[in-house]
Amino acid sequence: MIRREYLCLLMLPLLLCVFIGFLLHPVVAAVIPLGSKLSVLDNDYWVSSNGDFVIGFFNTSDEPNQYSVGIRFNSKSIPYSQQKVVWVAGAHVAVGNVSYFQLTLDGELVLFDSLQGATTWTSGTGNRSVVSASLHDNGNFALIDREQNIIWQSFDTPSDTLLPGQTFSAYQILRPASKNPISSYYSLYMNASSYLQLRWKSNITYWVSESPSASNLTASLTTSGALQLVDQSFKPVWSVFGEDHNDTVNYRFLKLDADGNLRLYSWIEASQSWRSVWQAVENQCKVFATCGERGICVLTASGSADCSCPFEKTENDKCFVPYEQDCKSGSTMQTYKNMYLYGIYPPDDSVVISSLQRCQQLCLNDLDCTVATFTNDGSPQCSIKKTEYLSGYADPSISSVSFVKKCSGPFAVNPDLMKSPPPKLPPSLCVRCLIGASSGTFLIVAILQLGFVFYICKRKNSNRKEANPAFTYPDSKGLVVLSFSEIKSLTEDFKNQIRSNMFKGMLPNNCLIAVKDLNASIEERKFRSAVVKMGNIHHKNIVKLEGYCCELNHRFLVYEYAKNGSVDKYIDDSTLCRKLIWSKRIEICSSVAKAISYLHSGCREFVSHGNLKCENVILDENFEAKVTDFGFTIINSEASYCSASAEKDVADFGNLVLTLLTGCRDHEELCEWTYKEWIEGRASNVVDKRIDGGADSEELERALRIAFWCLQTEELRRPSMCEVVRVLDGTLSVDPPPPPFALEENDT
Ligand SMILES: *[C@@H]1O[C@H](CO)[C@@H](O)[C@H](O)[C@H]1NC(C)=O
Ligand SMILES: *[C@@H]1O[C@H](CO)[C@@H](O)[C@H](O)[C@H]1NC(C)=O
Ligand SMILES: *[C@@H]1O[C@H](CO)[C@@H](O)[C@H](O)[C@H]1NC(C)=O
Ligand SMILES: *[C@@H]1O[C@H](CO)[C@@H](O)[C@H](O)[C@H]1NC(C)=O
Repeated sequence: MIRREYLCLLMLPLLLCVFIGFLLHPVVAAVIPLGSKLSVLDNDYWVSSNGDFVIGFFNTSDEPNQYSVGIRFNSKSIPYSQQKVVWVAGAHVAVGNVSYFQLTLDGELVLFDSLQGATTWTSGTGNRSVVSASLHDNGNFALIDREQNIIWQSFDTPSDTLLPGQTFSAYQILRPASKNPISSYYSLYMNASSYLQLRWKSNITYWVSESPSASNLTASLTTSGALQLVDQSFKPVWSVFGEDHNDTVNYRFLKLDADGNLRLYSWIEASQSWRSVWQAVENQCKVFATCGERGICVLTASGSADCSCPFEKTENDKCFVPYEQDCKSGSTMQTYKNMYLYGIYPPDDSVVISSLQRCQQLCLNDLDCTVATFTNDGSPQCSIKKTEYLSGYADPSISSVSFVKKCSGPFAVNPDLMKSPPPKLPPSLCVRCLIGASSGTFLIVAILQLGFVFYICKRKNSNRKEANPAFTYPDSKGLVVLSFSEIKSLTEDFKNQIRSNMFKGMLPNNCLIAVKDLNASIEERKFRSAVVKMGNIHHKNIVKLEGYCCELNHRFLVYEYAKNGSVDKYIDDSTLCRKLIWSKRIEICSSVAKAISYLHSGCREFVSHGNLKCENVILDENFEAKVTDFGFTIINSEASYCSASAEKDVADFGNLVLTLLTGCRDHEELCEWTYKEWIEGRASNVVDKRIDGGADSEELERALRIAFWCLQTEELRRPSMCEVVRVLDGTLSVDPPPPPFALEENDT
């Protein structure tokens, strides 16, 4: 009865519209036939038969000409501004202003984007006998076949909201609609043991349902206002209740908000507004990265989070640690009581058992440490952070103490005049500093140089006597130190050039070497300290540095030689490329990822590669991949390579993966083209046609997803190389990436 009246009410404006003009065209249709279409220009909608929900295009927040297609509340009792969007096609993709959304004659939903001139989302139901679609009264949009079976439904691909009647089961995910890089990392996830988890990225869990571990539980929101986990016989095993549980409320929904909190909302008729009746994390400051890069969270009396920056600020309103590694004047620690700090990029702090005093000292003595937080809940713990991206919270009730490292001041020239004594250097404090200190002392330098000249002379003399003298003089790091004439003779006067500035040679013990001429007037002190650092890098997927030459203005690096040459040779040659079968290519990706991950986080100091590409990945006699040519960023760290960073390596890695998968070395179009093929469900199209036996579709999916994450324009979205390694290994799952090319995303 009521429904029929409703229908009439809805038909009235429809008829009016038809008569008056073409502004709005809501179509009330229990059954939406194949071929039906919604478009931005026509501004039309499909309405559920009770009128509570509509599906159609809506303008995405602040961008004037960008639209998404989705389902929202439409009830007449809810004013337009409060008609919340509850589902969006394709993980919040935004499309241009002449786009359309169509149920094709093949029974597939497609979203055509006028900006890209391509389909950006489909339901993937092309050949599954879909005969029609309908928007149900509970807000579920479903495609059905002739036997009324549901082939696809929006309830199975939730965006950020769950409606009563919608179920959420293992491996499903909710994500906030935000494009802000910090909040786009929040998710609600159900893991294999049926725990609901609120996570930041995939490795930080800041809230978890206290349900019994079980499999096959499903979560749902009841019409009475409870969030429940039920077992297979629909018996609730865990519930949380909204404040208004059992009250008569017409509309409810559960939403993962952009601030990372999960909330249950009820429609309050009297105030004409949505009210939060339950939230997962009581104290908003306990939501990981609540203040993002903008500092420290303090909970206000009204229960909202207030972000402030007690440290030095830099531009863009971001809150950075005041410490820089190259502090000329030493550093001091500033103490902040009742404050807890944690790193965001990366989020993993290293924790050690230690006392309060020692905690402060540990950070002070560690060149990479930026801040430390001491906590004592029974066991005294010190967590050391090595990142400038920090967040945290402060409250008089917190017993944690944080120490923030600061440079003592740029003006402290004369150590005697310094107010606080410079920190004592622990014995582990690097050759770099020692060399720095010694170079200030003329006498020492003079003695060293005398010694060096003497050494060279002696070497030159012995050179004449013995055939292979150099190799009796490896230095303390096991590196062979060569003279320029030795380099010349080992490479037979630079006869065999492998690549630009790279020559093949042979040591007298018959070991093949690759000699790189740096062709640069690099300061000797800097060169030697860089070589020491590089000599310390040992990894099976990184070409070993065997030695070097640093004589007058000659600077050479001597690497081990890899018999099978660099990967670009294989990609470019139609015969050779057959040797790189699918599994080999995936293995190369994985080896390179491990190598770069090691450079970034396995060495004592961060080392960026800076020049990762096919030419710099070489294959040894077993076709095992090794990364080479990584020395420059260390040597030139202060000059032209200062732009080299972990993020750049990650993006270079993304390009390398795409090159290996597609066999195409032109990066200009490659990324957009492969993304388009992938998002439209034609991933296998991108695979290098020359690979015998084609690709493993699961490995391809993983590799493409991680490559697109690596290539995100927004650097903070790119994964760490550790994560990349785990994804390629299959030990970490990876979500579908947003488009990696520029979509003009303004963060907050
Ligand atoms: C569509 O968007 C473009 C900008 O992307 C704008 O120039 C144009 O006027 C818009 N057209 C309509 C019909 O709104
Ligand atoms: C699921 O999450 C819970 C709570 O965080 C954890 O104890 C459990 O080990 C997880 N299960 C799996 C299979 O990851
Ligand atoms: C969970 O469901 C799957 C598929 O429906 C079934 O194979 C499995 O046995 C179930 N597990 C339990 C513990 O009931
Ligand atoms: C709602 O009603 C049910 C059944 O009467 C009861 O078990 C439950 O405790 C009530 N919820 C609240 C929050 O009072």
